[in-house]
Amino acid sequence: MNRIFSGVQPTGNLHLGNYLGAIKNWVSLQKSFECIFCIVDLHAITIKQNPKELEKNTLEVTAAYLASGIDPEKTIIFNQSSVSAHAELTWMLSCFTPIGWLNRMTQFKEKAGKKRENAVLGLFSYPVLMASDILAYKATHVPVGEDQKQHLELARDIAGAFNQTYNNDFFPLPEPQIFEEAKRIMSLRNGKNKMSKSDDSDYSRINITDNKDLINLKIKKAKTDAYPLPSKKEDLKDRPEAANLLEIYGAFKNEKLDKVLKEVGGKDFSSFKKILTDLTISKIEPISKKMNDYLNNKDYLKKILNKGKEKADEISSKNLSEIKKIIGLLII
Ligand code: TYM
Repeated sequence: MNRIFSGVQPTGNLHLGNYLGAIKNWVSLQKSFECIFCIVDLHAITIKQNPKELEKNTLEVTAAYLASGIDPEKTIIFNQSSVSAHAELTWMLSCFTPIGWLNRMTQFKEKAGKKRENAVLGLFSYPVLMASDILAYKATHVPVGEDQKQHLELARDIAGAFNQTYNNDFFPLPEPQIFEEAKRIMSLRNGKNKMSKSDDSDYSRINITDNKDLINLKIKKAKTDAYPLPSKKEDLKDRPEAANLLEIYGAFKNEKLDKVLKEVGGKDFSSFKKILTDLTISKIEPISKKMNDYLNNKDYLKKILNKGKEKADEISSKNLSEIKKIIGLLII
């Protein structure tokens, strides 16, 4: 059976990378897969969080899921900390994860920076929690942006290590689903850096809560180069900013780069930016409006999360009992 699991951290500033690289793709997957989409609040606390903000951001991501078209009747939506299997399985799987595997994780190196000795254990073992998220549901497919690929490879390795230890194939090896059109949306200020929630400059990203004027301003200020847009893919090689704006355009329109270049190749940036701005506003504004409506009804959002939690708990606690049995942890 195919089952999808994915998640977003409730750390504020939900941006176009999160939407185009992940959430937007989840919407169509609901048609053909059983889907579980989580708001991963336990991941968020690997970095210091303000408690009030964390709660607010958890509801905001829930609202963003619903406003983007995730259907709570079909799909399980819940916040990670409400289902205990995630934290419990993390301990068990950490006993199958060599430290050397975690030492290779580039995201830890980036986040811990030079203060590695002072980095908290949770930041280091974060990928084990992510593996547990997926494996607690025996998910087979994981739709994410490219930045999560290394973590997913680790999840496969951990699943494999468990299966090999007990000579079974209990865990399916989860497949990453990375959507080419928007696998890595870059910063609007520097086409070589990923668009990120934690970039100091708000002008580096378009947040899905940004209004018309802000979207207009951010795209106007987005870094470009001195040449018109090319008509061939090869001519984008050393033009990361141009490539990024075209990628955003193509992702909104569900079109491959070749097709986009046929349409806009030869245009100068100012006229292309105008078309991109109109398109972005037409796609983002309805979502942020719906998000606001949902956020005005927090009881409804909590009801959705509560229903999702019950279903997630049912699946994961059954799997957890089987895992305990395999390991030899006595269930009384
Ligand atoms: P997070 O919260 O950083 O990002 C959520 C999703 O958005 C994608 N993404 C991007 N895609 C394209 N371009 C970008 N600039 C960009 N920035 C972010 C991410 O790849 C992700 O799909 N560890 C994960 C959350 C997580 C998870 C999981 C995902 C926890 N457990 C289990 C899948 C399965 C994270 O921090 O995502």
